[in-house]
Amino acid sequence: MIGDIQALGGTEGSRAWYERAQASLAGGISSSARLTSTGPHPYPLYMASGHGARIRDIDGNEYVDYLAAYGSAVLGHAPSVLTDALEPVLHGGTMFGTCNTAEVELAELITEMVPCADLVRFANSGSEAVQGAVRAARSHTGRTKILKFEGHYHGWTDVLAVSNRPGADEAGPYDRPHPVPHSPGIPAGVVDDVVVCPWNDPDALRTVLDAHRGELAAVICEPIVANNACTMPAPGFLEVLRQECTRRGIVLIFDEICTGFRTAPGGAQALFGVVPDLATYSKALGGGLPIAAFAGRRELMEPLATGHLKHGGTYNSSPLCATAGLATLRELNRPEVVEHIDTTGRQIMEAIQRAAHDRGVPCAVQGVGALFQVVFTPGGTPTTQYRDLLRADTARYAAFRHELLKQGVHTNAYGMACWFVSAAVTADDLATTCKAIERSFDALSAN
Ligand SMILES: Cc1ncc(COP(=O)(O)O)c(C=O)c1O
Repeated sequence: MIGDIQALGGTEGSRAWYERAQASLAGGISSSARLTSTGPHPYPLYMASGHGARIRDIDGNEYVDYLAAYGSAVLGHAPSVLTDALEPVLHGGTMFGTCNTAEVELAELITEMVPCADLVRFANSGSEAVQGAVRAARSHTGRTKILKFEGHYHGWTDVLAVSNRPGADEAGPYDRPHPVPHSPGIPAGVVDDVVVCPWNDPDALRTVLDAHRGELAAVICEPIVANNACTMPAPGFLEVLRQECTRRGIVLIFDEICTGFRTAPGGAQALFGVVPDLATYSKALGGGLPIAAFAGRRELMEPLATGHLKHGGTYNSSPLCATAGLATLRELNRPEVVEHIDTTGRQIMEAIQRAAHDRGVPCAVQGVGALFQVVFTPGGTPTTQYRDLLRADTARYAAFRHELLKQGVHTNAYGMACWFVSAAVTADDLATTCKAIERSFDALSAN
């Protein structure tokens, strides 16, 4: 019954569970992101099942899904290639805390697919993978400070939860932003080790690099800034990053947790032809199961091999998750799968652009087929950096997303996040999506 949801009046079951959850789960949720990414409705929806590109909530409403488990469900929900591979593991033991053959095959596949990956280490979440890469960079260089770009997201742990979403009143001067802790509880010493810089500005970058000469272990970035509404790298900017890091002996880390394996089999580094020293992965890597990785040049990863550099994790690369990763990446390594994702996504992007243009609604649709976002900026100008997003019309985005939901299309409720397109979107799903987009813009232009 796609499209039948009546101003979310048909979601009483979700409302009741959310009320019940308040008594036992802190805030009724399991991640701070749930409130921004799947709410506010005024309550989150509780999903019961998913097959292909469609998910169904506990009240029986069906949605074409572009949250796609934050991009993890890259092959869609419950794809047979995954369930077939996982079934024997479920029955034969999911975890022994020992080495397993699937992790070896998965690492081999990653070294084939990813240009920078001479060696791989697995973890459970993107935040852990980032921690691993940062430690490897610090150990390699003997330096402490990390340069990150304002607005880029690298996980919730202390190490880089700085200047993720600073307000205009606290962010400091444009070209020398203040490092702003993302949460209370992050020690000042950790924040002081993070140097913040505006994205897509080579002059500002060089000024900040010069100001911290000899102090920086790494520069880390999201090559397509999925967490800034898919702000794209300006032509040549990634190349400048590469050159400056090489020249100054700084480790360049691409956080490919959103872009990995879905923008191209080799991720953004293959798409743009710029190879970092280290890269981090999760989301698409596991096809919906929790597995992450950091990978990179032998020289940087070798101290892990000798055991000199420490990295651990009880759950790292369990047979269950490594098998999921292997089944997923074997699919994503088939060029037609990523091509299908890209073509489908671009058709949706065009449908949004057309619907907006026909109704005179200024907005930009930015990103690539695999991940993109619509931003209601003044004049519909694409964003080039985080502070542009502070001028976007967030109320209009919320209204657009809410209309889409009513029309049976499920997207991230947070305007700085993005749509993720899975390989499971069919022609029928696409037609439903395009119709919902038209109707949503009708509603927007009527208000
Ligand atoms: C670019 C990026 N890096 C790191 C992370 C952290 O990953 P996780 O939520 O698995 O810890 C995320 C999560 O959304 C992300 O988008």
